[in-house]
Amino acid sequence: MESNTYSSGVIRHFQHPHNYGKINNADGIGIVGNVVCGDEMRLYIKVEDDIIKDVKFETFGCVAAISTSSVVTDLAKGKRIKDALKITNSKILKELGGLPLIKIHCSLLAVDALYEAIYDYLSKNKKKIPEKVQKKHNQLKRA
Ligand code: FES
Repeated sequence: MESNTYSSGVIRHFQHPHNYGKINNADGIGIVGNVVCGDEMRLYIKVEDDIIKDVKFETFGCVAAISTSSVVTDLAKGKRIKDALKITNSKILKELGGLPLIKIHCSLLAVDALYEAIYDYLSKNKKKIPEKVQKKHNQLKRA
């Protein structure tokens, strides 16, 4: 789903983002940035019995980055960690009704931030880190 303009879903989430803010005693925090534009996303999770009970974000970035952050928090809230790891960029884009092609790269931050928050939670709690989470973490550290 590509177009040159923002969909009504993008505009709605940008104007009224869901789960915006910070969790002070978060169990996991994911901080990712886009080196090209300098935008940054922080995603906080609160986990109980392996379920993401609460999730919030702070995004210092563009319309696409803010709207995708809002959607990723909606999708992750209430999910088991293993199910939250099934959230993909294409699911987020589908929820939003697409993004202009030139803004697709902005949407990658949302899934990366979620993975990093989960990585942070699992490593702090000495839990097994799934290979795809470790791989993503290593890629992001190298970037
Ligand atoms: Fe930086 Fe969109 S322009 S994330």
